[in-house]
Amino acid sequence: MKKRTHACQELNEKMVGQTVVLNGWVANRRDHGSLIFIDLRDRSGLCQIVFNPKNSQKAHKDSEELGKEFVVSLTGNVSLRPKGTENPKIASGKIEVEAIDLEILNKAEQPLPIELDAHVLASEEQRLKYRFLDLRREQLKNNLIFRHHMIKAFRDFFDKEGFLEIETPIMAKSTPEGSRDYLVPSRVHPGKFYALPQSPQIFKQLLMVAGFEKYMQVARCFRDEDLRSDRQPEFTQIDLEMSFVNENDVIDVTERSLAFAVEKSTGKKVSTPFVRMTFANAMDQFGSDKPDTRFDLKLLDVTDELSGSEFQVLESVFKNHGKAKAVVVSDGAEKFSKGDLEKLTDAAKVYGAKGLFTFKVKDKSFESSITKFLSEKQIKGVLKKTAAKDNDLILVVADEWETACTAMGAVRLKIGEKLGLMDPNKLNFLWVIDFPLYVWDKEENRPAANHHPFTRPKKEFFSLMDSDPMKVLAEAYDCVLNGSEVGGGSIRIHERALQEKMFGILKISPSEAERRFGFLLSAFRYGAPPHGGLALGVDRLATILTHSESIRDVIAFPKNKAAISLMDEAPDIVDQKQLRELHLKLDLDK
Ligand code: AMO
Repeated sequence: MKKRTHACQELNEKMVGQTVVLNGWVANRRDHGSLIFIDLRDRSGLCQIVFNPKNSQKAHKDSEELGKEFVVSLTGNVSLRPKGTENPKIASGKIEVEAIDLEILNKAEQPLPIELDAHVLASEEQRLKYRFLDLRREQLKNNLIFRHHMIKAFRDFFDKEGFLEIETPIMAKSTPEGSRDYLVPSRVHPGKFYALPQSPQIFKQLLMVAGFEKYMQVARCFRDEDLRSDRQPEFTQIDLEMSFVNENDVIDVTERSLAFAVEKSTGKKVSTPFVRMTFANAMDQFGSDKPDTRFDLKLLDVTDELSGSEFQVLESVFKNHGKAKAVVVSDGAEKFSKGDLEKLTDAAKVYGAKGLFTFKVKDKSFESSITKFLSEKQIKGVLKKTAAKDNDLILVVADEWETACTAMGAVRLKIGEKLGLMDPNKLNFLWVIDFPLYVWDKEENRPAANHHPFTRPKKEFFSLMDSDPMKVLAEAYDCVLNGSEVGGGSIRIHERALQEKMFGILKISPSEAERRFGFLLSAFRYGAPPHGGLALGVDRLATILTHSESIRDVIAFPKNKAAISLMDEAPDIVDQKQLRELHLKLDLDK
């Protein structure tokens, strides 16, 4: 094989007259009779090759056999393209290579199972099955190159800041992050299992106890949870932990790392510090703990204005201390058809709302099926509170505070989508802080950890831990970008007594705590420093920063929505022998 002298995109008009060797794939072939053209592709991009019998009879003849995705080594002379045939879109667009020798290194079966031209994209199922071909597409290739640059920028940043990258075990004891573990059976210890890490959480805390002070890792995490468009069963974090720090220190270094990595990988400037919003405000104003602030449409409270009507549905909500949350869409009355409003209602219902009230503002009153239940005073009150004018659309959910907020939050996003308010070129980073330490576990009828059981309560709430745990706020913070949670972390509990108290509130018995987290509790006996950290979701960041539609577009070999890798067909059955060695018997429902 003749080895390349240049990459396709390195060729330019200054090299006219030079003889070069290129290695790559045939992206396409155009037969113009006496002249045959191919676009040759390598990792750098494309270059046009022309086979002219005047330059080489043999190469011209050989090129007749070429099909899409054949692998070739090609020798030729760089020449200027005839006027009017230049391609300004590619670096090598002013030149072409006149072939003098063609060596076919490998053939590709025709037709290809998927077409690689972007305008005739195959189904995602086919593309995932033939991922090795799909990855030849410009867009996916660029996404993976982007991802490399972004991760490298994070590594460079943290290296400069004195962080050490330390690997933590993949086969470990199960550490809780709130979802199910992937388990690995042990052959040598019958009946025992390793768990793949949901995150390196406990290990990075132990590294702080061990005295490393600043840790980072590009960490693989594994979670067996219901998949959504921004979730994968295995994903990557930029994981950090620091000793002798408070919330502001972690937030500060994270903001600077993001500004550095985003600028390095996209060229875009990110201004710091980011806005900080309490969880309560985020919910109240945006109906979400990950608000998309690229557009306004804030939620308004119209509880007082709508109270005291003859409408029983509303009155019973208010009697139970529920709230009415509204969004006003300027000139929305005509922008939303009946079908659109039904879709918005469905979005609200997903979050537990029983319905969505819609008021079209006309002649300073409402056009709505419930107008007849409302008094003049109530209508005026709502119009005043919302500053709505004729032709506006007011949407309201009345329910428990959290349900009303999250349902209207979902409606707000749908409106933003429909009206095209989510500018992909904006990068709205913010922090959500002051999360509740606990969420109520309705099934178990007890508090459960909102983040994980190592999250530190805010000092001023220590005294409420026993008496009113649901009011306790945590030293926890989430990083949000354009309405997506791209990171989360907390200051940790580092004292054994406080950690045991935490387990007590979570109804984890001392023996259970010892069994599950004994090694952490033991470490807390021997001088654990105050510490805290955070993890950024690499896949989510890359998805947003490359404007990709799906998280799968920034991962080389992703799983589909059913957690299957269509290419290698994992998960798959294994031999009886393997099961026997692992002391496993399957008990499958028919
Ligand atoms: P958390 O569980 O919030 O925190 O995860 C951190 C970030 O990882 C990303 N992420 C995911 N990305 C893709 N697919 C998934 N299934 C998935 N799950 C999470 C999100 C999220 O913000 N140990 C703590 C961090 C800490 O406290 O230091 C943790 O893992 O962007």
